[in-house]
Amino acid sequence: MTAIMQLSFDVNGAPVVVEVQARTTLADCLRHTLGLTGTHLGCEHGICGACTVIVDDAAVRSCLMLAVQAEGTRVVTVEGLSGDDSLTPLQAAFRKHHALQCGFCTPGMITTLHALLTDEPFADADRIRDVLSGNICRCTGYIPIIEAALEARIAYQGKREDGRR
Ligand code: FES
Ligand code: FES
Repeated sequence: MTAIMQLSFDVNGAPVVVEVQARTTLADCLRHTLGLTGTHLGCEHGICGACTVIVDDAAVRSCLMLAVQAEGTRVVTVEGLSGDDSLTPLQAAFRKHHALQCGFCTPGMITTLHALLTDEPFADADRIRDVLSGNICRCTGYIPIIEAALEARIAYQGKREDGRR
């Protein structure tokens, strides 16, 4: 018999309560139960980074996390990064630098970079490359992605109130 469990967490700023199987991944919960299909699934075993979401401010591979492990957490998906119809500065930089082609990897790139730049708004190109080494893009190449991330840093730097670099 499959165990069904109730899960309460916060998704993109709103509290949700869902019922999931104990074995359901966070990725499947977001996509199938909550309809948030912006989170993509590629490898489903932690290699490609396409499924990256932000859990309590940390970039997490949602294919490797059980939904029930998200109990009580704050989850942000790519849909939750912009509060309105406009692009975030990071998304706008991706568009400006042509940092996507098919777009399959893009949600994971954006969530990974958002978590990084929120925490490290002065991250240099080497640091950005290092962090993005866990996100695979098959069609764009990484140079435009790095350029977009470098340009977007300015939007994060003003939010850092403690002045740390
Ligand atoms: S689908 Fe999760 S890392 Fe590839
Ligand atoms: S834009 Fe196609 S995989 Fe990255």
